[in-house]
Amino acid sequence: MTRKRVGVLISGRGSNLQALLDAAAQPDCPFEIVLVLSNTAKVQGLERASAVGVATAVVDHRTFPDREAFEKAMTEALEAAQVELVCQAGFMRVVTPWFVTHWHDRLLNIHPSLLPAFPGLDTHGRALAAGVKLHGCSVHLVRETVDQGPILGQAAVPVLPDDDPESLAARVLEAEHRLYPTCLALYATGRIEVSGETARVESACGPGRLLINPTPEASGA
Ligand code: GRF
Repeated sequence: MTRKRVGVLISGRGSNLQALLDAAAQPDCPFEIVLVLSNTAKVQGLERASAVGVATAVVDHRTFPDREAFEKAMTEALEAAQVELVCQAGFMRVVTPWFVTHWHDRLLNIHPSLLPAFPGLDTHGRALAAGVKLHGCSVHLVRETVDQGPILGQAAVPVLPDDDPESLAARVLEAEHRLYPTCLALYATGRIEVSGETARVESACGPGRLLINPTPEASGA
């Protein structure tokens, strides 16, 4: 089996990166992480990569005259490592149309909400303010509009009555760690078919799988 060569873009903690590294350590995983690239030096994610012998690079956006120059430097590093798919994982830079076009259908992102609800920042606080009863995360292909693009997979979690943004974020993050490697493995092996702006997932779960909050059992109905 040839494994898809993946580059991961990070800016900080790298817990999603860790989930991808852990998945890639399994012998039957269809992808390998060949480069971890951060726009900030000395972040935990870089240490996570080094700890398992994965190559790292720092491309500091502040040292370039504009976004495109920064992205060309990132692309050079990714291509030097023969990266086939790029995963943004807590990468805190908005990318330009140039980067999106260059990596068209080869650039993935994870976002902590059930898109298209709550694009942008502070998703957990906004979900609580909106009073939604299910929240979650999405893995999608990156397009020009931030947090928009063909959705490859989503994971939902319940919102509990006493949640605050931190407790909700922690619950969603656990789901992120399961969702990202799952979607990447499916996409890397051609089991997600993208046509235009939507994706068809071969191994979607059956119609009987229901996540419902509150539970019908507790209602007495
Ligand atoms: C995650 O919640 C991810 O969805 C968002 O930023 C956070 C990054 O966390 N884009 P980590 O760096 O992967 O721990």
